[in-house]
Amino acid sequence: MTTPASTSAPTASDDPAAPLRIRSDDRTARGEGLIARWADRIDVDDATPRLTIGEGGTPLVHARRLSERLGVELHLKLELANPTGSFKDRGMCVAVARAVQAGATTLICASTGNTSASAAAFAAAAGLQCVVIVPTGKIAAGKLLQAQVAGALVIQIDGSFDDGLAAVRELSTRPGIALVNSVNEYRIEGQKTGAFEVVEDLGGTAPDWLCIPVGNAGNITAYWRGFTELHASGELTSLPRLLGVQAAGAAPLVDGHDIERPETLATAIRIGRPARGDQALAAVADSRGQLRKRTDEQLVEAYALLAKDAGIFCEPASAISVAGLIDAIHDGTIARGSRVVCVLTGHGLKDPDTAATIVQPTIACGPSAAAIAAVIDANA
Ligand SMILES: Cc1ncc(COP(=O)(O)O)c(C=O)c1O
Repeated sequence: MTTPASTSAPTASDDPAAPLRIRSDDRTARGEGLIARWADRIDVDDATPRLTIGEGGTPLVHARRLSERLGVELHLKLELANPTGSFKDRGMCVAVARAVQAGATTLICASTGNTSASAAAFAAAAGLQCVVIVPTGKIAAGKLLQAQVAGALVIQIDGSFDDGLAAVRELSTRPGIALVNSVNEYRIEGQKTGAFEVVEDLGGTAPDWLCIPVGNAGNITAYWRGFTELHASGELTSLPRLLGVQAAGAAPLVDGHDIERPETLATAIRIGRPARGDQALAAVADSRGQLRKRTDEQLVEAYALLAKDAGIFCEPASAISVAGLIDAIHDGTIARGSRVVCVLTGHGLKDPDTAATIVQPTIACGPSAAAIAAVIDANA
């Protein structure tokens, strides 16, 4: 894929000899941001502010030990490396820039945590007010602090994310207020650039499978849009199959009906009525993919495995993509040797309470080398 700065025809991307990226011309890497980088491929125009806090351009890491263990070629898309620690920054950047362009003064969203952190950060950068609605007690500590630190008005409701989304949809009809949940099309436009980067980093090809957590279903919708756009333009000759993974207690798309009281420790995906559920189902079907659900226990296993076998500390919801992958390898859905990308959507530090449940206690010791050596030997 060529960068938008290029005036040449699209690169024949499945040609391994094709030039893929000239790093010195990678405007995302230079901090000019996602809108500047992808302006000719996303729904923005010349008047859209090039708002950025450094989003996008996240690493795709080949997890070698984990690949060996699982028998596939596993790449991890580190969306946790975005400035607020989640993939939301991609779409939020475009949604907020468009809100500024339209003259909005206030952003509003319902959130399981990451949307609020991202909206608050972009509101701060754009000089807008931000109002976030979160379910009381069901949002990871770090995410709540992120929104507060950035100066958002944080309102905790005695209800679910789904209740909050219904309320903000109503409130956003007021003048000057922009709704920045993923029902906002610009969110999807920004988030689809994750797919562009995956293709770019895989040398102009798609993975065999893309495994991704599903909550409100905006991100899986966005990735599919990104891949299919590249396919339609002839820059990609094959499409990936999508494996969307939900938490067992919050799996409306797998179970085939809304969940009134969704429950999972992966609070980010504790959603019972996904706003883009139909699009997610269509994307999965079009890709000849699958939706699966995994239990909290299984996602915590994958969460620990990622930390201990790949050195990647993501948040619990992100690890469910790997839990789904493991299951799909076991039952033969994903063949050994396949090239797989798991999207790790958020950073582990956001949710220290869950992390505390999988770690060994620290060891108290005197300050001398001898005392420390004794502890090391005892734990060798
Ligand atoms: C860390 C994390 N992963 C996955 C998701 C699910 O994304 P979507 O709601 O777009 O399906 C979310 C949503 O908040 C999230 O915060």
